[in-house]
Amino acid sequence: MQPNSQSDPHSPASVSGWGCAKVILVGEHFVVHGAPALALPLDSVGTRVTLRTADEGKSRLELPEAAKSDKSKEVVDRAFAILGLSDRRHDWNVGVESTVPLGQGLGSSASYGLALLRALAEAIDRPLSCEQLSEHAYEIEKIFHGRPSGVDNTVIAYEIPVIFSANEGIDLLRQVTLPRLILASTGTAGSTQDAVAKVRQHRQENTRRFRALCDEAKAITESCASLLQTKFGSDMGREMGKHLDHSHRLLQEVGVSTIELDCLVDTARNAGAYGAKLTGAGFGGFMLAAIDP
Ligand code: PMV
Repeated sequence: MQPNSQSDPHSPASVSGWGCAKVILVGEHFVVHGAPALALPLDSVGTRVTLRTADEGKSRLELPEAAKSDKSKEVVDRAFAILGLSDRRHDWNVGVESTVPLGQGLGSSASYGLALLRALAEAIDRPLSCEQLSEHAYEIEKIFHGRPSGVDNTVIAYEIPVIFSANEGIDLLRQVTLPRLILASTGTAGSTQDAVAKVRQHRQENTRRFRALCDEAKAITESCASLLQTKFGSDMGREMGKHLDHSHRLLQEVGVSTIELDCLVDTARNAGAYGAKLTGAGFGGFMLAAIDP
């Protein structure tokens, strides 16, 4: 569809695209170093990008206050360029609305990138496969995060649980049973790039131990994946909880947890959760716990 306001100037044609958020169940950070991560789409929050026909030469970019940054603007230019639309950049006003907390590990940047790409694909009537969307969104993720693993754009493009490994590719988990999970926020944001740099430094200083941690992370992801694909009954949450606890210990060891995150994790456990961990890059953001349904 081509946006076209000529038929009714009061109701300009508009198209929109949506990108959900995501939760990393297990494997974050170690995924940057080759281990697999297991991520889930989170569709109760997300980003909507709306494109409306612009007045000639006067296109606007409307961003939520918290997301106003040069990077957010660069992303729009990049998305147009990726789809070969640079010369049409000023044909559309771009409006962004998001309910994803920024910098809290729920994939706000990938959610934005995917919403924008979907809106553009809709505007030029060029359907993109999940694989194409994910590849393009990865290019956008690089603007925000340097050299991300690719887990966020993958799970948000496919919108189903995935095992993601930079070395071994992706495994789409179409039939899974999830335990009851809850999320709680520390209310503070952390920089993914800083957290990734911290882990990289930890790896340099503890090479052999880090290799062992990667192996443990891999084993946790594999166990969680088989747990989700087995009809496990009521013990599933309990089993999952053990893996979440283990995963949190690994993330603590590489230095990306915080007092607030540890406090939330302990609070969840003390309140009866089967297990809990930080989710995403850490240095703030969300805690994830498996609980009794
Ligand atoms: O930016 P976040 O908090 O959604 O986390 C991304 C996950 C990391 O493993 C920390 C980084 C990556 O590139 O995979």
